[in-house]
Parts: sequence; structure tokens; C-alpha cells
Amino acid sequence: MESKNFYITTPIYYVNGDPHVGSAYTTIAADVMARYKRTMGYDVYFLTGTDEHGQKVEETAKAKGMTPQEWTDLMAPRFVEMWKALNIKNDDFIRTTEERHKKAVKKILQTVYEKGDIYKGEYEGKYCVSCETFVPENQIVGEDQCPDCGKKLRMVKEESYFFRMSKYQDALLKHIDEHPDFILPRSRRNEVISFIKQGLQDLSISRNTFEWGIPIEFAPGHITYVWFDALTNYLTAVGYENNPEEFQKRWENGEVVHLLGKDIVRFHAIIWPCMLLSAGVKLPDKIVAHGWWTSEGEKMSKSKGNVVAPLEEVKKYGVDAFRYYLLREVSFGNDGDYSTKAIVTRINSDLANDLGNLLNRTLGMYKKYFGEEIVKTGEYEAIDLEAQKLFDEILVQVEDMMSRLEFSRALETIWKFISRMNKYIDETTPWLLIKDESKKERLATVMNMLVESLYKVAVLVAPYMPEAGQKIWNQLGYNDDIEKALVENIKPWNILEVGHKLGNASPIFPRLEVEKEVKEKNPVNKDLKIENPINIDEFSKVEIKVVEILEADKVEGSDKLLKFKVNDGKNIRQIVSGIAKYYPEYKELVGKKVLAVVNLEPVVLRGELSQGMLLSSEEKKRIKLVEVDSSVKVGSKIK
Ligand code: MSP
Repeated sequence: MESKNFYITTPIYYVNGDPHVGSAYTTIAADVMARYKRTMGYDVYFLTGTDEHGQKVEETAKAKGMTPQEWTDLMAPRFVEMWKALNIKNDDFIRTTEERHKKAVKKILQTVYEKGDIYKGEYEGKYCVSCETFVPENQIVGEDQCPDCGKKLRMVKEESYFFRMSKYQDALLKHIDEHPDFILPRSRRNEVISFIKQGLQDLSISRNTFEWGIPIEFAPGHITYVWFDALTNYLTAVGYENNPEEFQKRWENGEVVHLLGKDIVRFHAIIWPCMLLSAGVKLPDKIVAHGWWTSEGEKMSKSKGNVVAPLEEVKKYGVDAFRYYLLREVSFGNDGDYSTKAIVTRINSDLANDLGNLLNRTLGMYKKYFGEEIVKTGEYEAIDLEAQKLFDEILVQVEDMMSRLEFSRALETIWKFISRMNKYIDETTPWLLIKDESKKERLATVMNMLVESLYKVAVLVAPYMPEAGQKIWNQLGYNDDIEKALVENIKPWNILEVGHKLGNASPIFPRLEVEKEVKEKNPVNKDLKIENPINIDEFSKVEIKVVEILEADKVEGSDKLLKFKVNDGKNIRQIVSGIAKYYPEYKELVGKKVLAVVNLEPVVLRGELSQGMLLSSEEKKRIKLVEVDSSVKVGSKIK
């Protein structure tokens, strides 16, 4: 019997930065899949969460002046909030710093250890902190750079425990061979096969030169390699360590699907299955990799300022349009380019024109011809039966496509039906039928076909656009929760009740002007109020220069003050500044070029002469000196 338990996961996201369009993409795709499976009657478990250990997070926390725990406690809720704003309905949110997870990691490590698959050795080689990955010599690119992210690699030489991954090479190849849908899409599957065929190396799974990780019981002084820790989250959440019944139901007897980006396929399709083979746990059913998004034709990067911020897009276009666009625009698996022009075009043509018009025209005509209540349907004619047949076919096709996570094709298929029904209006010409009293019953059948089509379409689009699905239902006069609807119940035709009252119509997707949207990507606030204005003469009284810090010292008897000797291009002067608290490592400031006001009247602070003021920025009580690019000349004036 086919299992009706469906378990879907996203990668757990690193908390070194805020969620962005990449993490939003996987999470939305998983949410759509989870919602779709619920409408298909599955018992769904949808997991997402945060990956909180490792060197990268430890270093980010340090740079922010916090402990890793403080930092992760600050960041994890930002993911929860973002998912709420994107209408993500996950059943669980896992954080790898939780107790339940630490116990699960301990269990899998112990099991693999007892199997004889872990041995002690020494790791010597290169490591990419950004990808949290060991990079073998033959994969290094450029000048010691990571082949995936291009960042500079670090040398690591430390005692380490190794996992005998090489032992599972043949078993894994066999599994991939026997399960053609194990790794999707095909291109990724082939890539994984050829990688394994080059020969799997044993994997270093412990670190002992930093502390932010899960300690290993049989290896004192060592913490778990962050990927070994992170991958285990998929087991933790379904009771691997603490709930055998749940584990049986969701993992062993359920369908397990992992969604992830193409950059982390090897971790999921090689390391993870080997870990499970060693631990004696069933392998997941599908590992599905999606492509990467660029923005307006370029790689996203903070310095270019072209990072797509999901919440801003949602503010502009609405959460449904954003979700729809991401999944409709590119085939899952391919790379895609996020552009304002493309999203606006999709909104106008697919949502406002095709779907929106079908709804508006139908409700408008129904109310005009029959009033607000559903009238009786007559005999179906050939054109009606043909549309119904198309709908049946579409349901089968959508099911097939969704089983391979082909979101874009599934939407295209649903839209075939929407277009068909728009054409149906033009072909059945209700505005002519109304003029002939003998065609009243025919008109009723035609109009009911349209209302019923929309009722069904709402259920099919709701996983992608939960709000729009609900709004369509409400406008058709159905106030039940569309999330509880089942595809099974929309299969038969003639399901409208005579006398059912239609709701109020209003456009769900207003049309947008492409030109205006493209131009207004970064709209200027023309109503900006300038507070405490000054004129240019007043400003030019303040003389600001680039100075170089030559010496930095504490002011004796003060916790707050530091004194700096700086070169202003002409003289060496001393400046005292109240920033000691923010710069415990103040000696590191020597050699930096910063900005200073050089025409302030000199003062004496705690017995030290101060001949100017260093400029600093203040954000949330954190003070930072304003540094300038090292290429700027000392003594340059700021105008
Ligand atoms: N913590 C690991 C995953 C551990 S899972 C056991 C990790 N985290 S991540 O935050 O760096 O990345 C999460 C996901 O975001 C990856 O699937 C990655 O592919 C995806 N994306 C990051 N940038 C992206 C784009 N520009 N476009 C699409 N997805 C991208 O890796």
C-alpha cells in the first residue's frame, strides 16, 4: 500500500546573516509541496530550521561582540518571522542548539562508532569556513580559493576522528542505480554518480581547534563537524532519539523528501546517505536540488546592493505574487534571474489577466443575469464535457508533475485550464444567451460551469497562493478554510448547491505598470523632512580630515578613554576618545585610516590633551570609528 505519510524538509539555514531570497525560495517550495500534499489527503510533516554551530557562526558572533549562543538566539527568531510573513506553514522549526538535537547527534555518532566506522587520525589540509567544508588539494582553485564560493581557504592541521565513508561507496552507487528518482533532477544525479566513481575519501567528522559545536562523548576535546551535526536534524525532528513510534511512522514508513540548493547536493546525496547506511537507517526517498537566483542578471552581493529582500518584495507585490513568481518563472532545478520586469509581467498576464479576469467576468455576469444565488444547472453540452475532461486530465498531470516537484510545469498546466475557461466564455457568449429567453437554462449551465471551475481552481492554486485561493472562495460565497480542502472533493462536477449565495467581488490582483515599477525599484522619498537643517556655510566651518592612527593607548585611570597619536598629513596630534568599551583590542586600530574633526578647540581630558575628535557611527549602542579605504591619502579634506 502506498504510504500516506509525507515528510518534507528544507536545509537548515546558517544564522550568520538574515534570510534572503535563496533561503526563501527553498522554504516556499517546500511549503507549496506540503500544502499540496495536504490537499491530496496526506499526513504531512514539514520541517525547517537553523544551523547554529560551527566556525562560521562562532566567528560571526565574535565579530558582533557576542557569544555564539547570544548571537544565535538573536538570529533564529528572524527566520521564524520571515517564514510567517511568507505564509509558510511548517510543522516544526528545529534549532541545532536544542537539547533534543544534541541527543540525536550523540545517538547517531555512538551508533556509527560502535559499528566500527569511526577512527582517530589527523587532518591536514585546507578548509573553507564559509562553506564549512574540507577542500581536497586537487579541488583548490586560484590562489588557495574554495571551488564553490571563491573565498580564501585556511590551513587546518589537527587531530581528528574520521568516518569511514569510503566503505559505503558501492552500496551508495547501487542505491542510486536502483532508485532513479533518488536524486533529482537528472543532471544532478549524474554529477553525483561521477563524483562517487572517482572514489570516496573518509570524512573528518570532528574538530578540536574551536569550541562551538556538539561535544563527542568518545572523543574528549573534540566537537562534531558541523555538517555531521546539521544533517542529523532531519532525524531529530521525527523522533529518532526520543520517539520510536513517530520515527517509524514519519521516517521508516513515510515518504521522505529533502529540498536543497545545488551547492549542497554532495552533502545531502553522498555524506548523508553514507551516514544513514552506517547507522542502519533507511535512506530518504528523494533529494531534490534547485538552481540559484541571480538578480537583474548579476550575482547577488551586498556590495552591489542587488540582494533581493523577500520582505520588500512582499510589501510591493503581495506574498502570493512573490510565491507564484518564484515557482512559475524557472523550472525547479534550473538557475533563474530575479527581475522587476519579469515579476510585474507575470502578475499582469497570469494573475491579473488570466485568473483575475476569469473571476471578475464570471461574478459580474452571474450577478447581472441571475442575481446572487446559484440557479439550477441544465444538461451539459459537448463544450462543457470537453472542459470537464480537460480538468480531469489536468489533475492527473499536476499530480505526476508535483511528484517530481516540477512546480513551474504544474502551474503552467493549471493555467491551461484557466485559459480554456476564459476562452469558454468567448465561445459560449453568455451576453447573447441572456437575450433569448429560451436559452435561460443553457445560460445557467454555462455560468455554473464557470463558477464551479473557479471553485476548483482556487483549491489547485491555494498551495502556491494561499491568500488568493481563500479570496476566490470567499468571493464565490464559500467561507470554509481552503487549507482544509481536498482535491478528491473537487473531482466530480455539478457540485454547486442551488440557492448558494455568491460573495462580493473585488479584484485580487490589480494590474501594475511595468515602467513605473522598474523605475521605482529604489524610490526616492520626496517628502523627506530634514531635521535641524544647516546651510553650506555652517557646514564648511567644520574641518574634517583623513588621519592615520599611529599609536593607540589607554588613558590611565579611565575605563572609557583611549588616546591616539594620529598623523593628519601635516602634524602629529593627540586625540582622546571615549570608545575604550567598544575596542578591547584597541591596538588593532594602529595603521587604520579614520576621519577626524581637526578644528575643534583643544581640551584636556583626564589630564590628557585632546586636539580633535575622531568620527564614529552609532548603531544600537555600538560605536564604531568611521574607517576609510586604505587608498585614500592621509590629510585629505572631507567636503
Ligand atoms: N547550513 C547549511 C545547510 C545544512 S542542511 C543540513 C547551508 N545553509 S545556507 O544558509 O548557507 O544555505 C541554505 C540554502 O540557501 C542552500 O540550499 C542554498 O542553495 C540556498 N541559497 C543561497 N543563495 C541562493 C541563491 N542566490 N539562489 C537560490 N538558493 C540559494 O548551506
